[in-house]
Amino acid sequence: MIADNENDIKHLKAIGKICAQALKKMMAHAKPGITTAELDNIGSEFLKSEGARSAPQAMYKFPGATCISITPVIAHGIPGGYVLREGDLINIDVSAELDGYFGDTGASMVVAKRVPEIEKMFAAARSALDKAVHAAKAGELLNGIGKTIQDEAKRNGYNVIFELTGHGIGKSLHEDPSAIYNFHKPDDRRILQEGWVLAIEPFLTPGRGRIVEEKDRWSLRTADRAIAAQFEHTVIVTKKEPIILTL
Ligand code: CO
Ligand code: CO
Repeated sequence: MIADNENDIKHLKAIGKICAQALKKMMAHAKPGITTAELDNIGSEFLKSEGARSAPQAMYKFPGATCISITPVIAHGIPGGYVLREGDLINIDVSAELDGYFGDTGASMVVAKRVPEIEKMFAAARSALDKAVHAAKAGELLNGIGKTIQDEAKRNGYNVIFELTGHGIGKSLHEDPSAIYNFHKPDDRRILQEGWVLAIEPFLTPGRGRIVEEKDRWSLRTADRAIAAQFEHTVIVTKKEPIILTL
């Protein structure tokens, strides 16, 4: 969507904040002994208490309110009976709707442990997201985002996951511009429009950067079972710095 008035911006900020708070709350509860279904329930209850609806549930009948992925699954993991253990690398992704507006955010973390090798990947992925957000400026190439992410990944010795992309968002979870690549694609000549609402979500891995779908038909894992990280923000593109909605 093009968010070009105060009303749109107000609503997008509201749902962006709710998604960010749900994610933060879930991350704080991601401790050894909790099941991913219980963790999902914490997110689900929070969304409900704010009057918001889980977007994957409402739009795609996803079997959970949020996506909780345990490595080597990196996206669309289904919450269930799995009990979190110290050292698990997990990704939590929260997208939700309020008053017809959508927000989307995600983050990776290690449960109750510091693992320098993984923290190094997190730092690179966060840096890629940060730089990509700065590259999202009206009038510039949309693929400046992808080039920035891939350059930052490479500089730190990582690959991006090629099949997973960011996306337009706003009045729906996935809308134009579709496929915001996380890599340089010279033939992608789309130009960033003022007011575009974008979910920017770099995925970094020390592996080859390819994924496969698990038998449950949702979970996406790295094909080589390498670790991976994702961080995601929803932003509104302006002529200057974008407005980050999910801080
Ligand atoms: Co997301
Ligand atoms: Co997204």
